[in-house]
Parts: sequence; structure tokens; C-alpha cells
Amino acid sequence: MERWSIKNSGKVYNIDNWGNGFFSINRKGHVCVHPSPNSKYAIDLRTLVEDLIKRKIKPPILLRFMDVLQGRIAAINRAFKNAIDEYDYPAGYQTFFPIKVNQQRQVVEAITEFGKKHKIGLEVGSKPELVAAISFATGKDLQIICNGYKDNDFIETILYANKIGYDITIVVEKLFELEKVIALSKKTGIVPKLGIRVKLSAKGTGKWATSGGSDAKFGLKISELLAAIEMLRENNLLDHVQLLHFHIGSQITKIDKIKNALIEGSRIYAEMHKMGVGLEYLDIGGGLGVDYDGSKSSYFSSVNYSIEEYANDVVYQVKNVCVEAGVPCPKIISESGRAIVAHYSVLITNILNTNTQNALPDYDDVLEEAEKLSPTVRKLHDIYESLDRHSLREDYHDTLQLVQEADSLFNLGYLNLHDRALAEWLCNKIFIRINGIVERMQPVPEELQNFQLNLRQTYFANFSLFQSVPDSWAIDQLFPIMPLQRLAQKPDVMATIADITCDSDGEVSSFVGEKGKTKFLPLHKVQSGEDYFIGFFMIGAYQEILGDMHNLFGDTNAVHITFNKKTNYKIDAVIHGDATWESLKYVQYKGPEILKNVRDALEKRVATRKVSFEETSHFIELLDKMLLSYTYLGE
Ligand SMILES: Cc1ncc(COP(=O)(O)O)c(C=O)c1O
Repeated sequence: MERWSIKNSGKVYNIDNWGNGFFSINRKGHVCVHPSPNSKYAIDLRTLVEDLIKRKIKPPILLRFMDVLQGRIAAINRAFKNAIDEYDYPAGYQTFFPIKVNQQRQVVEAITEFGKKHKIGLEVGSKPELVAAISFATGKDLQIICNGYKDNDFIETILYANKIGYDITIVVEKLFELEKVIALSKKTGIVPKLGIRVKLSAKGTGKWATSGGSDAKFGLKISELLAAIEMLRENNLLDHVQLLHFHIGSQITKIDKIKNALIEGSRIYAEMHKMGVGLEYLDIGGGLGVDYDGSKSSYFSSVNYSIEEYANDVVYQVKNVCVEAGVPCPKIISESGRAIVAHYSVLITNILNTNTQNALPDYDDVLEEAEKLSPTVRKLHDIYESLDRHSLREDYHDTLQLVQEADSLFNLGYLNLHDRALAEWLCNKIFIRINGIVERMQPVPEELQNFQLNLRQTYFANFSLFQSVPDSWAIDQLFPIMPLQRLAQKPDVMATIADITCDSDGEVSSFVGEKGKTKFLPLHKVQSGEDYFIGFFMIGAYQEILGDMHNLFGDTNAVHITFNKKTNYKIDAVIHGDATWESLKYVQYKGPEILKNVRDALEKRVATRKVSFEETSHFIELLDKMLLSYTYLGE
């Protein structure tokens, strides 16, 4: 048997590269999470999940690690502090967390709490987000930046909020919005605190590149910016424009794209300053990416720079342009969302079944009587018997052709179901044998490179892709996925992961591997009765709020965990996932009403003696239990 250690598993799943020091494999062969990068302290995820199940918190479970959140905030702020020291930058840096990336109350609460010492603010883009941010800013010294389209009520609320002591900057996205702000400012007599978002010609990369460039949805074009400055001058508001904002897209994979945007944005800032606009802040938006696949490349699920490089480039470029232009350096703001929250949450779920567990009947006996086999099946049998390294390619092609032939013969009525099953079974055996040879070949012949895909097996996991990892479905985003246990053993199955929705799209077939993206996930053969858990990592950004209720699978259970030296971990909060009645309520069904209607109808059936009242009441009990229980699968 091939020697295998946790080091091999580390490589296969690339955990050291995407884990950022927060995730690793322990000596038991379990995945663990560290409260800070590479800390000697760790929480064993497999043990944690077992503990939670004993507490009746069932998978799928979303684990939110608050120490990781804190660690990411600290890392970003430390990188900017170091860059400011290194380049002797005369102004400061502040993060504004864009709450659209994860609006969960406890999460934003934790960010504002940990972020106090870094003066973290919040960025909002809608009325509900503004109300949420106001709830955090009440009684606290918390700044808010308001982007997104705004109507009169929205603007008036912000004006009054500022009047009574909140600190909210209205970022003007469109000229007509500025007209509204000016009119409302005149009407209320309240002077606004303003920012302007500008469209840069610089673009980001990858999926969100269209957030930048002159066709971007938000922001003022340069000609509009000049018109806005005139409008503001005429209304004596130039001094009240404190902030210039741009955003060229999320997950910017290449550092040179960021540099280009910084140079252009800083030049606009400097010119505006010279025109008498009272700017103090340069808000460079989001875009600081994370390395989902650990490849440190410019592939869209990775980034070719570190947080430190990002901070250095931002500070250096802004200073360079401002010094050259002879204007004061601005306080720098970044609206980093993904980089703060991506790592902190992990979805854990159990494998319900695999298409290997339902073992096929053993046909070995049948093969002993080869003369009784149909000609097509016999030919497959001959290939299986004679296959070797030299006949590999030919045998592979012949097998594919014979399986097709078996299907056609079956459709024409010349092959029975039993023979078709034999053909399928033999094909699988041939592929396993070929794979054994291919694995040892160096280099692998081109047409056999994708061969292993024939052997992929589906593992059915207890989750909804649409609810928990929607970007995997919507934009083919890669997320690290790996088993939580048995990592000292070689994973011997090449798997894809299917969810429990009735949708063939509910399947993950791209994974993070040792050398980048792979088309299968190595997993272990699940023993009968074994609890086998897998984790979806780095899903803290955007996934929780973008998730939808396909098939009415609702929110998963969520547990907030902090590291604790004495007890290893502490559960800070348990947020129960949706019960069936809650999922139904979203689509206007009422649980009690359903029960009443069913009960009434069944009474009538009992009266006709078609069913007994014991049977009907048991059915009602089952229905009631279902309404109250988790939408995901149990035993
Ligand atoms: C205006 C604005 N700020 C900040 C962000 C957050 O970006 P990221 O999550 O890449 O940091 C976004 C997201 O696209 C955005 O539109």
C-alpha cells in the first residue's frame, strides 16, 4: 500500500496555501482552525462537529470563527500601519466594512467591536443597510459612508441623522442625486457631509471588471464631475465635499490593475484639490482579493499579491502623486469586504451517500461462463482480461465504443437489462484497471489526461449549493473543499459533490487542487455507518446573503465560536436554521392553516371509514413534526 501522511493530504488539498495559517491538518489527520495564523493553539473541526451534534445542532452547520475575523481585521490594519511608517505617509488609514458582503447582525457587531481600535467604519448601499448601520452607530463613535442610489427619504434621513450627531457621508453617485441633495439641504437647512464617486477609466480584472471603466454602473464621468463641482460651487458646498471615492470591482487579481487605478484616482483627487474642493479622504473602494485556490496567481479565484503588497502600493502611489502635485496627502479609506470576512466561516456537512456505496452485485460468477455472454459483453470481458500498458489506448477507445453499442442494442431489443448491467460493470472494471496503469505513466499520453474523469463518483452531501455557496453555481467561483478527517489515509476516490436539491446544477465539479483547479475532489471510500464530514472553506464573503431558497432549503444552523485556552473553544451564539414552516412562510404558506385544512379533510375521510383515525392522527403528527424541523436531511 502506498505510504501516505498528512503532508500528502496537505498538498493534495493545498491547505497550506489557501489556509493563510488559519487552517491546517493535525496529527490525528483532522482539519483544525487556529485563532491566529500558525498559532500553536487549534480547534479540531471534526471533534467540534461531533460535539455540536451531541448538542443536537445538526449539519449542515455554518461555523463562524470570530478569532479569524479579528485576525483578518488586524492583518489589514497592520499592513497599512507598516506601509504608512515605511513611506512616512503624513495621513492615516481607515477600513470601512461594506456590510453588503455580510450583513449578519452578530458579524457586523463583532467587526465594529474588534474594529474600535482601528476606527473601522461601515459602508452601506441601501435603506435597510443604512438602518442597520445606524443601529450600530447609536451611542457610539462610528462613521458611516453611504454609497448606492438614493431617493429623497433616504437623503433626508441622512441629513437629520448628521444634525443629531451621527457621522454619515453621502456619496453622490449621479448628477441628479446631487440635485436632490442640494434641494433637500436648502429645504431642511442642514449642510450635508458629501463624497463623490468617480468612474475611472482603469478597470479591475475577472468577473467584476465591469464595475470599473467608463461604462460602469455607478459614479460620475469626468465631464459630470466638473459639472458637479460647478453646481457645488454655486451652492457654497465645495468645502463640504470631503471624500473622493472609486471602486473598480471586487476580487482584483492583478496588482498592476490596482496600481493603475490608484494613480488615476490620486490624480483626480489632486486636481480636485487644486480646484478648491475641500477633500480630506481618498476612498479606494473594495477589491482587495483573497487567494481561494492558494495558487498566488492572477487566476480569478486567486490574487498575485499579498495584503502587505496591496497596502504598500496604495500608500506609495497615493503619496507619490500627491507630492508631485503639491497637494496634502489624503486619509486613505478602503472598503475591504471580502478580505475581512472570506476566511472566517466554514460550512460543515455530512456525506449522505455515494454512488459507490450502493454496491453493484458481484458478477464474477457470470463471467466464468463466458460462452453464455452476449457478443458485446464478451468482447468487453476479453478487453478486461487482456489489457496491458501497450494496448491501453486501443482498449480504452474500444471500451467506449462497446458501451455505446450495448446501449444501442438494448434500445433495439437485442440486449436484456442484465447484459446491459454487465456491460456497465465491465466498463467500470476496465477503467479502474486503466487508471492503475495511467497513474504510473510519466508523461500521461494526451488523450488519457482526462481519463480519470470517467471514474469520478458522486458524493451526495447534505446541503444546498444555492443556499450556502451560491457563487459556485452562479459564477463558477472556486472554494476550497476538503474532508475533515482521515487525512493520514490516502483518499482513494475521485469525487464530485452533489447537493440535495432537485436540480442537476446543484453539483460542484471544480475543486482546488495541488496544482490549481481540478475536476474532481479526492475523497475516502465511506465505510458503512461512518460519519464522513466535508468542509466548504472561505465562504464568509457574499455567500450568506446571496444564498437563495431553491427547493425551500432554508438558512443552515450557524454557530459562533471563539478560541478558549481552558476549554479549547467557547460557543458564543447558536442561530438555528430555518424550520420547514419558516421556509414556507417566505412563500406565503401558513403552517397552522395547512394543518387545519388537512385535519378537516381527513375527518371527512375517517367518517367514510376509508381510513382509521389512528392513521390520520399519526399522519398529522408526522406533518406537524416536519413543519417544526430543519429543512435539511436527518438520518
Ligand atoms: C462600492 C463598493 N465598495 C466595496 C465593495 C467590496 O468589495 P470587496 O468585497 O472586493 O472588498 C464593493 C463590492 O463590490 C462595492 O461595490
